[in-house]
Amino acid sequence: MSKVTVVGAGNVGATVANVLAHKDVVKDVVLLDIVGDLARGKALDSWQQAPIDYYSTRLTGTDDYSDTADSDVVVITAGIPRKPGMSRDDLISTNAKIVTSVMDSILKHSDNPIVIIVSNPLDVMTYAAHKTSGLSDKRVFGMAGILDTARYRAFLATALNVSPKDIQAVLMGGHGDTMVPLPRYTTVAGIPVTEMIEDDVLDSIVERTKKGGGELVKLMGTSAWYAPGAAAAQMVESILRDEQRIFPCCVQLNGEYGMKDVYLGVPVKLGLNGVEKVIELDLNESEMNLLKTSEGHVRQVMDVFDKM
Ligand code: NAI
Ligand code: 2OP
Repeated sequence: MSKVTVVGAGNVGATVANVLAHKDVVKDVVLLDIVGDLARGKALDSWQQAPIDYYSTRLTGTDDYSDTADSDVVVITAGIPRKPGMSRDDLISTNAKIVTSVMDSILKHSDNPIVIIVSNPLDVMTYAAHKTSGLSDKRVFGMAGILDTARYRAFLATALNVSPKDIQAVLMGGHGDTMVPLPRYTTVAGIPVTEMIEDDVLDSIVERTKKGGGELVKLMGTSAWYAPGAAAAQMVESILRDEQRIFPCCVQLNGEYGMKDVYLGVPVKLGLNGVEKVIELDLNESEMNLLKTSEGHVRQVMDVFDKM
């Protein structure tokens, strides 16, 4: 595997390219934006960081899809971000057109890439991209769960005054306020989190996590990019190194969790073939009810896309 394209050289796309270059797992990273000079400038800036931070990954910026030819992995971050007062779902009409046209252009130059969607509303943009692509559902999936879980883990690390390295957690569902952090699957260095924290503090962290994206939009006037960019780069790394790491990712469900033809965040293994396996957890009744609520919300927005 030797080539990764990142579409959209804005806040998230440029961060994905830069973090990926630092990992030194890929020969070429192509950064593409309709604003060609933006992509060229950010790629050149990242390449000029290579002698300082010691990586060999070549970065190229472009607005010409022929430069993306034969990409092994493509990360799509093109689209508009949220502004204060907007939900992710408000972005659907603009971003659906962008994501489907980007997908068409990519597939003219790469036969069977693995495609990671980042643009919002994430679950439905993953659906849109997969639907228009004709690619296997194991090769088109979305990034959100790593980010949402990272927010949850970071809040826990602060509350417990421990290293975020020691917090492991699973979070499922759509990338919206109905996401489902799972305290029963959360540990601190192997210790169940419920043995380390009061119930009310844990509950408030779960609630803060669900609104974690909006908290940053309020602070910055646009949405986050460091953690989102690092999350997408971590998915690419697991694929390129065939690491078989388990991450929550947005995938098409084909009967898992009793759900079909819906795109939802669930734990999956990522390797050279993309989604190597969907992991089915033994959820209890209340966890399952929360997941079903999240499914219902994603289906409503999928419906909006279908009627567009
Ligand atoms: P941004 O505005 O900084 O960058 C978006 C870039 O896309 C711009 O440079 C723009 O020129 C480019 N673009 C627009 N149409 C294009 C097209 N047809 N072809 C190529 N490039 C095109 O936005 P930012 O902050 O990078 O966010 C990008 C998207 O990612 C947004 O939809 C945002 O909501 C989403 N997002 C998703 C997250 C997730 O967890 N899935 C987390 C953070 C952001
Ligand atoms: C985030 O969660 C807005 O989806 C973006 O930061």
